Amino acid sequence: MSILSPKKIEIKENNLWHRENELAKMPVWQKLWHHAEILANANLYEMCDEPGRFEACHLKLDELIFDFSRQKINHETMGLFSELAELCGLKVAIDQMFSGEKINHTENRAVKHWLLRSPDADLPKAVLAERNKLFEIAEKIRVSEITDVVNLGIGGSDLGPVMVAEALKPYWDTDISVHFVSNIDPAALDDVLNKCRPESTLFIVSSKSFTTEETLENMTRAKQWLSECLNKPIQSEELNNCFYAVTAKSESAQKYHIHPDHILSIWDWVGGRYSVWSSIGLPLVILLGKNQFIEFLAGAHAVDTHFCNTPWHQNIPVMMALLGVWQNNFFEAHTQAVIPYSDRLKYFTNYLQQLDMESNGKSVDTQGRNIDYATGAVVWGGVGTNVQHAFFQLLHQSKLPIQLDFIMPILAEKSEHQSTQNKLIANGLGQLKAFVEGQSGNSKPANFMEGNKPSNVFFIKKLSPKNMGMLIACYEHKVFTQGVIWNLNSFDQPGVELGKKLAEGVLEAVTHNAKTDNLTAQAIQLLNSWVK
Ligand code: F6P
Repeated sequence: MSILSPKKIEIKENNLWHRENELAKMPVWQKLWHHAEILANANLYEMCDEPGRFEACHLKLDELIFDFSRQKINHETMGLFSELAELCGLKVAIDQMFSGEKINHTENRAVKHWLLRSPDADLPKAVLAERNKLFEIAEKIRVSEITDVVNLGIGGSDLGPVMVAEALKPYWDTDISVHFVSNIDPAALDDVLNKCRPESTLFIVSSKSFTTEETLENMTRAKQWLSECLNKPIQSEELNNCFYAVTAKSESAQKYHIHPDHILSIWDWVGGRYSVWSSIGLPLVILLGKNQFIEFLAGAHAVDTHFCNTPWHQNIPVMMALLGVWQNNFFEAHTQAVIPYSDRLKYFTNYLQQLDMESNGKSVDTQGRNIDYATGAVVWGGVGTNVQHAFFQLLHQSKLPIQLDFIMPILAEKSEHQSTQNKLIANGLGQLKAFVEGQSGNSKPANFMEGNKPSNVFFIKKLSPKNMGMLIACYEHKVFTQGVIWNLNSFDQPGVELGKKLAEGVLEAVTHNAKTDNLTAQAIQLLNSWVK
C-alpha cells in the first residue's frame, strides 16, 4: 500500500503529521475505496465492449469530444463521482471563483483569469481599456517596419504564449518573426539575437512581478546588445523605445526606463500560469491579429459557461478532474502522461506541467493542515507518434499505474494530407486498443502485455484558435476542480521561493567567496578551478 493513498488514516491526535483530514473522513471517500477494490479486478476490455459504452462515456462540446470510455468506471462510479463533487462543495467553490471572492487566501487575492476571456460587454472599464490597449499596441507593431519581436519571460510569462504560438502556426498572419527567450542561460538569448536585425527588433519584457531574475538579466543583456549594435547610449530614448513591458508592476518597469505608453498591465488576480488570456498574450496578438485572438478567448469563454452550468457527470473539466482523482488516489497512478498526437502541440505538456504541478503540487490544505493523501500528479509526456519510439515500452509492460491523456486533432492542416493524418490517428487509436487489450505471452513470455490500462482521449476537429482556447480552459478548470477536492489553494506557489532565495547566497559565494555550506563550497571550488 502506498503511503500516498492510505485506505485508513491512523490518527495520532497530538501529531501534526497524522492529523485527520476532512476528505479521508468522508463516507463517500470510503465508498470510493470499496468501489475501487471491486473495479480493480474488472476487465477493462469487457467494459469497453459493452453495448452503448462510447455513447455513455463521452462528452461533446462544439468541436471537442472528451472520450473517457476506456476508463475503469461504471454507472455506480459516475454516481459516486457526482456525490464527491457535491460533498466537496464544488458548486460553492465555482460560484466563489466566478464571483471574484478572494479564494487565493494565502495571497489575499481573487482568481479571475476567466474574466479576461469574457465578452467586451461583460468587462469592467479598466479591463476593457487594457484589452483595447493590447490590441492597439499589437496592431501598431504589426503595421510597422519591425521584423523581429523577442518576448523575454519565464514560467507563465512564457509557456502559454510559446505553446499557443506553435499550436496555431497555420493561423499566423504577419511577416514579423516572434521569438521567445526564458532561461537565464546566456546561450538562450544569444541564439535568438543572432537571428535578429537590431535596427528592426523590439523586446517585450513579460513579468507579472518585474522581479524575476532571469527576465531582468535577459532584458539587461538585450539592451546592451542593442546599444552595441546600434552604437547608441544605453539610456537613449531610441533604445528605451525598443522595449515594451507586460506587468502588474508598472512603476518597476518605468524604473527600467520603459515608457508608460509601452507598458501593458496585468492584475494580481491573474495567476502567472493562468495569464495567457491577458496582455501576456501580446506575442499571440502580434502573430494572430486581434480577431483570431478574440476567437481564442471565445473558446475559453465557452468552456467557462459549460463549466458553470453543466451537471457534474456531463461536465468535461469536472469529469477530467474526477477521473484523475480516481486514478491518482484510488489506483496509485501518481503520474499523468499527456500525449498529443500533433506536432503542433509539442509544447502542450510543458505548459500543463506548470499549470497543474505549480497549482496542485502541495501537501498542506486550505486550513494549514498537513495532507496525507495524494494530491497533484507528476505531469509528463510528449508528442505521438514520436513517444511510441521512446517510452511506450514502459507504458505497455511496466507495472507502474500511469494516467494517460491522448489529444488527437482529426483534420490535417491541408486536406490533401488527410491520408497521412489518418495514419497518425490510426497510430493513436491502435495504441489505445493495445492499452486496453494487451496480449498474451503464450508463445513468448517477454511479449506478455497485461493491457487493462485506462486512458482519456480528447478528439479535436482541428487546432483552431477557438478550439485551443477551449482545450486550455478545460485543463484549467480540471486543475481547479482537483484543488477543490483535495482542499488545496491552487493559486499560490510558495514552493518555488526557497530555491530562488538560497541561490542569492550561492551567487555571493560564487562571486565574492561568501560563506556557504560545505557541499556548495566544494562544488564552487571545483568549478572555479575550471573557470580560471
Ligand atoms: O515559478 C514561479 C513564478 O512566479 C510563476 O508562477 C510565474 O509564472 C513565473 O515565476 C514568472 O513570474 P513573473 O511573471 O512575475 O516574472
